[in-house]
Amino acid sequence: MSLSVAAQAGGLGARLSGIDLSEPLEQSTVDEIRAQWLTHKVVYFHDQPLTHLALARFTQYFGDFGVDPYVESIAEHDHILEVRREASEQASPFGGSWHSDWSFQQCPPSATILHAKVVPPVGGNTHFADGAKAYRQLSPSQRLTIDGLEAIHSARRPYSHEGFLAGGGKKRSMKIRPNDDALETQYHPLVRTHPETQEKVLWVNPVYTIGIRGMPDQQANKLLQTLFKHLTLPECLYQHQWQANMLAMWDNRSVVHCAQGGYDGHQRIMHRTTVAGTAPN
Ligand code: SIN
Repeated sequence: MSLSVAAQAGGLGARLSGIDLSEPLEQSTVDEIRAQWLTHKVVYFHDQPLTHLALARFTQYFGDFGVDPYVESIAEHDHILEVRREASEQASPFGGSWHSDWSFQQCPPSATILHAKVVPPVGGNTHFADGAKAYRQLSPSQRLTIDGLEAIHSARRPYSHEGFLAGGGKKRSMKIRPNDDALETQYHPLVRTHPETQEKVLWVNPVYTIGIRGMPDQQANKLLQTLFKHLTLPECLYQHQWQANMLAMWDNRSVVHCAQGGYDGHQRIMHRTTVAGTAPN
């Protein structure tokens, strides 16, 4: 089997084909997928019906499983989360604001892998933004302002007991487990250096980045709002459209993502795993 690559025009995202992920892969094939993932940051395969074990095996080619707090895994597998929204559900989509998965952890995941089980006939896309391109497109003086700053990350907005995913509002079919430890904070460089490509990446997100170390809140919020806006400018985006049995893998160290709605009245079910990462620096 040989891997074919069709890159998206903007450089972010590529379709990979010629491989059956339900079968064990040769190390050379895994190395090729890894290289394409590092280059294109989001890679995806069409037509890959996978068992839980095949999804887990594919994930582990890229490292150990990440630690998934606050969301219950499926009963059949400890490391697979189900991103589910029922046809009748009124709650906003899970992951429906820009974020990098679990960026509040000391060692956030390097990759997220999402496998589409049930895809609505309309809507339900996932949008990605390229933090390395966004950094390159900042002016020299903007870069000078932010290089060396440390951002404060926390899970409190979604996952504390008062968090927006914790309950209260509209009923949600996903099993969210709010916890007081979501109030904890973690400092990460606001501009991180990708550990494998050495690219500099604007690494903030409006869900988990709650401040800047040593900067008054008002000033930090203003700067963060400017950076969030810059990060999601159209030239930094890739809008991914799903089909059932598609598998996508993205690099949380260089992209942020945002699940889209637009499919009320239809069910959407995705299975998700993460690959453990290292502390950002
Ligand atoms: C997520 O944020 O991991 C979910 C993305 C999606 O469901 O499109």
